[in-house]
Amino acid sequence: MKLSEFGEKFATDSGIVGLMDDLGNALLENPDMVMMGGGNPGRLPVMEDVFRRRLEAVLRDPQQSHRLLGRYQSPQGDREFRTSVADLLRGQFGWPLTAANIAISNGSQSAFFTLFNMFAGPMPDGRRRTVHLPLTPEYLGYADNGLCEQFFRATRPGIEELDGRLFKYHVDFSRLALDDSVGALCVSRPTNPTGNVLTDEEVAHLDQLAGERGIPLIIDGAYGLPFPNILFADAKPHWNENTILVLSLSKLGLPGVRTGIVVAREEIIHAFANANGILNLACGNIGPALTDALFRDGEILRLSRDHVRPFYQARAQLAVDAFRERLAGLPFRIHKPEGAFFLWLWFEGLPIGSQVLYERLKRRGVLVVPGHHCFFGLEEDWPHRHECIRVSYVQDQAAVQRGVALIADEVRRAYSGAAIA
Ligand SMILES: Cc1ncc(COP(=O)(O)O)c(C=O)c1O
Repeated sequence: MKLSEFGEKFATDSGIVGLMDDLGNALLENPDMVMMGGGNPGRLPVMEDVFRRRLEAVLRDPQQSHRLLGRYQSPQGDREFRTSVADLLRGQFGWPLTAANIAISNGSQSAFFTLFNMFAGPMPDGRRRTVHLPLTPEYLGYADNGLCEQFFRATRPGIEELDGRLFKYHVDFSRLALDDSVGALCVSRPTNPTGNVLTDEEVAHLDQLAGERGIPLIIDGAYGLPFPNILFADAKPHWNENTILVLSLSKLGLPGVRTGIVVAREEIIHAFANANGILNLACGNIGPALTDALFRDGEILRLSRDHVRPFYQARAQLAVDAFRERLAGLPFRIHKPEGAFFLWLWFEGLPIGSQVLYERLKRRGVLVVPGHHCFFGLEEDWPHRHECIRVSYVQDQAAVQRGVALIADEVRRAYSGAAIA
């Protein structure tokens, strides 16, 4: 088959797709594989019950079930649901929002594709713009989202070493040089892959820099406030007319319904909805149908605070404890887990690099994400990018403990130069 440039970029096995396939196929190759690689949320029976009961209620009511299954919504999304979302955010944070500031997407991933390409790539004046990541490592899922090459640029972070073998990345504003070629800034907060949460001061500073340049600050709140609230640090949510906040129902336990929520000034929402109409015609109705009532009575906040966050926070602590014990004596550090559901492990001076470590771990029966993929957009060579891996800790505890033991054993071998068994 003869592929177009688009086909070459999006339909071939390049880059991230290879890694994703590897992650996807691993269980077929080894049914006992400890899956610490993916971004799937954990299973919370209390959340599953809420969603199941709600779905049953909708299906019992002919009006509601017709609305769920038999209707295209507008490309901007169901107006009632958008109103519920706007009311909740206005009530919680005082942001001046109405339904006109909200658009729904088929998962937040597809919203990022549209937003990134709205603001970066070839411009009408013939110049090119990029999406700038002020703090790398960033979410792997952005990496191939640009319609052209060289779409992302990233700034290397500062590293603060903390007690208890922890560390924290900070935006290094002394390195953050933004010129006219930057079309938007983007951060995930909490950050996938690291569990970092940008401080309020960092967000305020980025907001100021974006505002001065007339470019948007895109904040990916897939794990953040006000839902699913997988956030263990003190942080204020941020929105203003120059911010595009992208939320998602996925990490509440609904990745299968594919619902993203874009919060932005009306002009941006209007443009986004136009593009969404062309790309998707309309969005799925299931996410809004399952959660509209939870937004209206604020139950979504309570469920996030009382069930979702505590579940992941307890898991994070168990995983940190296990790694500290197993890795004792090695030059490891763990990014301070401030949110999301991954640990980001840094093995300083790792003799084999993160790709080889990933492959060896896969052979041993544990799947992780090799960290170097998450530094896309960073041009300078920085040894640190080959010294990190991301591990998810949402699996059942026995599996996580097994995975931690295997990782520690393999890393110990790597440092001691021992050949792989
Ligand atoms: C940081 C971040 N943003 C966005 C997404 C996309 O999520 P979804 O398309 O399910 O809303 C993910 C998924 O893992 C993520 O980790």
